[in-house]
Amino acid sequence: MSQFLSNCSVDALATAAQSLREGSLVAFPTETVYGLGADATNAQAVARIYEVKGRPADHPLIVHIADIKYLEQWISDVPEYAIALAREFWSGPMTLILLRSELAKDFITGGQDTVGIRIPDNSLALGLLEAFHKLGGAGIAAPSANRFGQVSPTTAEAVQEELGNYLSDTDLVLDGGPSVVGVESTIIDCTGELPRILRPGAITTEMIEEVSGLKVLDSTKNKSNDFKQEDIRVSGSLENHYAPKAKVFLDQQPVDGSGFIALESIDTPDGVIRLAAPKSVEEFARVLYSALREGDHQGLSSIYIEQPIGNGLAVAIRDRLARSAQGRN
Ligand code: TXA
Ligand code: MG
Repeated sequence: MSQFLSNCSVDALATAAQSLREGSLVAFPTETVYGLGADATNAQAVARIYEVKGRPADHPLIVHIADIKYLEQWISDVPEYAIALAREFWSGPMTLILLRSELAKDFITGGQDTVGIRIPDNSLALGLLEAFHKLGGAGIAAPSANRFGQVSPTTAEAVQEELGNYLSDTDLVLDGGPSVVGVESTIIDCTGELPRILRPGAITTEMIEEVSGLKVLDSTKNKSNDFKQEDIRVSGSLENHYAPKAKVFLDQQPVDGSGFIALESIDTPDGVIRLAAPKSVEEFARVLYSALREGDHQGLSSIYIEQPIGNGLAVAIRDRLARSAQGRN
């Protein structure tokens, strides 16, 4: 059982940073979802992430840093457009995939020659990262703090529920309240001439095109272009990911006794249990994962979801939903 810290003072963050440096795991909030952190230069600590998550060892991890000044040590090359994106959207829900330096070992990159880097926009995460850098740490590797294939946690309680049985008593879970974005960061491959979205998120195609002045390629939309999907191991791009225990059905007439998630403007059909009625697409993203968990808590066998339409964040929501419903529609 890990320790659960809900009142994270500067001292508590310094202690948590010290535990990370000593090889323990620290789960922490970010604006997207909660992450399960380890010192990104410590092979044993990183190995424990895989153990605790039950994740295959060749799936790469995102390295989190507190400031753009810590980027250089992790990478060997960075295109102009990636710098422009970093300046505009960091700290924020965006991960850049760049050519790695010597510091990014195979146990972080899954043996690839690239590394994913992100500066999260959450005061607790940034406080932890700053304390960690102060102790000489280079970055915190952190996947979403869920068991492999399950729904990402957006609260500290959900982390405890997912991983409590797998963490040890020197590990920590920091409680920073609910994540404000609610879906994982946009992952942008910046190793080519044009930016390519590997996982959609709150930093949208439109935003990236506007800041970079470039056309954005999208691997999640079109798998038949020159990009070989299987070359890049994005575990979140696997089918049947982000899945609750209940069966997820999209845009179908719900059966009696099932869970139901849709925008507030859509009426609740007779006989179903309304799990969420978000007023906007942003709220939809924020509450989606906790609503799926709530369905599981209530022991529902199926959850019906009316997907939000349109561009922007709705693309990320539909991406996750398609995977959580995979093979079931
Ligand atoms: O919002 C987020 O990104 C959260 C918070 C905690 O920062 N993290 C997160 O990590 O979602 P994870 O490991 O659950 O998902 C990251 C995805 C994985 O699918 C991984 O395969 C992919 O990013 N990834 C990491 N490094 C990569 C790389 N070098 N090339 C391609 N994909 C990479
Ligand atoms: Mg994940």
